[in-house]
Amino acid sequence: MNDTERLTALESRLKSLEGLDKETFDRVSAALDQSQGRLGYDAQGRLKLAFFDAKSYDMASFDRANADRYDLHYISAALDRDTADAAKGHKAVCIFVNDVCDAAVVETLAAHGVEMVALRCAGFNNVDLAACEASGISVVRVPAYSPYAVAEHTIGLMLMLNRHLHHAYIRNRHGYFVLDGLTGFDMHGKIVGVAGTGKIGQCVIDILLGFGCKVLAFDAFPNPAVSAMVGVDYVESDQLLSLSDIITLHVPLTPDTRHMIDRSAIARMKDGVMLINTSRGELVDTRALIEGLKSGKIGSAGLDVYEEEAGIFFHNLSHKVLTDDVLARLMSFNNVVVTSHQAFLTHEALSNIADTTLQNLGEFSEGKRGAELTNAVRLS
Ligand code: NAI
Repeated sequence: MNDTERLTALESRLKSLEGLDKETFDRVSAALDQSQGRLGYDAQGRLKLAFFDAKSYDMASFDRANADRYDLHYISAALDRDTADAAKGHKAVCIFVNDVCDAAVVETLAAHGVEMVALRCAGFNNVDLAACEASGISVVRVPAYSPYAVAEHTIGLMLMLNRHLHHAYIRNRHGYFVLDGLTGFDMHGKIVGVAGTGKIGQCVIDILLGFGCKVLAFDAFPNPAVSAMVGVDYVESDQLLSLSDIITLHVPLTPDTRHMIDRSAIARMKDGVMLINTSRGELVDTRALIEGLKSGKIGSAGLDVYEEEAGIFFHNLSHKVLTDDVLARLMSFNNVVVTSHQAFLTHEALSNIADTTLQNLGEFSEGKRGAELTNAVRLS
């Protein structure tokens, strides 16, 4: 049911109320008429969307895809308890990976009449789904926008660390054209453990097989397309940890996967292993990772995500001191490369994110709610 239908139904229920005098009926009807087209809609009747944590590249891709269909209100601040009031007067909010949508935020959104949370990403670990369901707020996401973007960045990190490209770039710029310390290894023939063989994991495996790597895969629900690939074996997580030269993480963040790479997992790894995480920071216990790097157990690490990245990644802190001691220590290692959650950032991915989010909004405008929405995120 869309808003117009809902208001018409309300009006007919009003008419059917017994003992309602004409004056009250006229007053309530007038109020309903007035509110029609106003709550969460702009003067042209366009649905109003509060777009949190908006960056220049988001605005460019969404403006292009939107073509003025919806009233997009870009807000540079991320959604959290302090900023949730900015959603007042909007029908829906659009958020990204580091916006906070916990129970307290959901309560504020619901009080302001927000009826949909549209995630412009795949992961939804930052949204309290139970609170949304209890408040009648639908939650949608963009389940896939470019697994290639993330997979290719993942491989980029592997090559950068293996061939010391980060050192070569700096050295050569200073005229230090010396090769000592830059020796890498052939990817061909190496064993790569891929944890999570969904859309992104599968693309990573495709590329690795092209290099001639041997892939050990681990997944709670093995992917038949991956099982069929020559050069891939599904194994238990223990085997993946102990046999792999490179380990790359592509599982979502859930209570089960939080800190799946902890002290004991690291202890089981090969000496000098390379660890790549382009999924979610909390998959890795960062303090344990630092210990592993200090002892040499971990040979190198490529991280596009970090446990405490909210408030750091996506922000310009170049004029401030870095107050996060754990991140500072992590970045002080010369065998660690940190990128700030940029694996998704390609033109193709941004365009797909905008298209799917606006499709989600379109379905919502047509009156679809909850599970009726194609890309609904529901409590499992
Ligand atoms: P997907 O849903 O297609 O694949 C996830 C796979 O993990 C599935 O095969 C699933 O069976 C498996 N899995 C789930 N729980 C598991 C568990 N407890 N143990 C073992 N396997 C488990 O997801 P997709 O699209 O491949 O994305 C993976 C993750 O990548 C996302 O959840 C997100 O956190 C991250 N991501 C990071 C981006 C970035 O810019 N760095 C961008 C997009 C996604």
